Amino acid sequence: MALSLGKDMASLRMQLDGPVTITSQEQTAVEESVEHIYSACQGRTRLKETFPLHKSRHISYLRKGLLRLSENFECLDASRPWLCYWILHSLNLLGDQISQEQQLRLSEFLKSVQADSGGFCGNIGHLPHLATTYAAVSALASLDFEPCYDIIDTDKLKQFLENMHNDDGSFTMHKDGELDVRGAYCAAVVAQLSGIHSDELFANTGEWIAKCQTFEGGFGSRPGTEAHGGYTFCSLAALILLNKTHLINKDQLLDWAVHRQMKFEGGFQGRTNKMVDGCYSFWQGGVFPLLHHILKTDLKNLDEKEWLFSQVALQDYILFCCQYPSGGLVDKPGKSRDYYHTCYCLSGLSVAQHSFENTFIRGDQNNLIEPTHPVFNIVLNKADKMAKYLRNKRSVNEAPSK
Ligand code: FPP
Ligand code: ZN
Repeated sequence: MALSLGKDMASLRMQLDGPVTITSQEQTAVEESVEHIYSACQGRTRLKETFPLHKSRHISYLRKGLLRLSENFECLDASRPWLCYWILHSLNLLGDQISQEQQLRLSEFLKSVQADSGGFCGNIGHLPHLATTYAAVSALASLDFEPCYDIIDTDKLKQFLENMHNDDGSFTMHKDGELDVRGAYCAAVVAQLSGIHSDELFANTGEWIAKCQTFEGGFGSRPGTEAHGGYTFCSLAALILLNKTHLINKDQLLDWAVHRQMKFEGGFQGRTNKMVDGCYSFWQGGVFPLLHHILKTDLKNLDEKEWLFSQVALQDYILFCCQYPSGGLVDKPGKSRDYYHTCYCLSGLSVAQHSFENTFIRGDQNNLIEPTHPVFNIVLNKADKMAKYLRNKRSVNEAPSK
């Protein structure tokens, strides 16, 4: 907000109302690094108005990741479908297209990690997991070539989701594994995109998610845990997919969400008293289109043009503080680039640029990127295309032969 308001930046800094702590010291350091960038730009109106999104640098960083990754990525060896989704979705947002041959190669890889039990694994021979299943299915939906969709064994996938579903409505991430609200979101998205959704598969899930809403208004990972943007996005998006948003306290959620944008930095924090991070541009920023959807019947005077956060300030944070000079985007100034932050900074930028039919473009007009689906976070139309194709395929296969 500092840059967009152009007023005394000092008044927007953290006001320390207690003793200095490790957290307050970290916050001061982040504000100083951001101030350094913003004050260098303030007054230089031309630079501010034409500050570019370095599309071609981001595209070449992303394309490189599809070919070969350096050993720095060893820690993501169990997250290969995630890398596919982060890279493909980022390229889609930037309007880049990969060849059909490359699309087929990626879908063959994803086929090789679909386990006999129907779920997708993080790598060949690993255990199937709901998060990597979500990532694999979202990556396939981010492609634009029907033969790629055919690699999904939807019958087995349905069985896998049934096996992860617990009687209380929650979903376990993997057999005998952790349980949190990401599971419900991942399962709901996978079921929709693969055309296998049924009310029975999600029995009690809406009720279980509603219990994750905390006294602050946001949602925690499970009932009784701290509210966090990542879990709040998952909860609200899943409740929308399941038609269960009437179960939550919307006013408290709105109150919590509007307080997560940082006054000085312009980006979002994930939880109360924590630091700004580029990835929350989507996890928190993405909550607003969903909130708009569920509030529009209650609030008659809700603006139909803008989201309930500063779209300009978020774009400033992403454009000025999150672009890595040689391509890719980051958490905050001084951090190294990675595909996760590239994907969610760009996804957040897309949310901040597109509200309803309106576009708000900060900086150069060429900064405009593609709109993303508010629930699936896949570029518009692609999610529907895969879901329709797989639903049709299932109904043809199920139809009695004459
Ligand atoms: C806190 O990290 C982060 C979490 C506890 C998880 C957040 C959840 C998501 C981002 C959602 C994932 C969604 C899917 C679909 C799998 P931290 O303590 O390092 O960061 P913080 O200080 O910013 O809270
Ligand atoms: Zn992050």
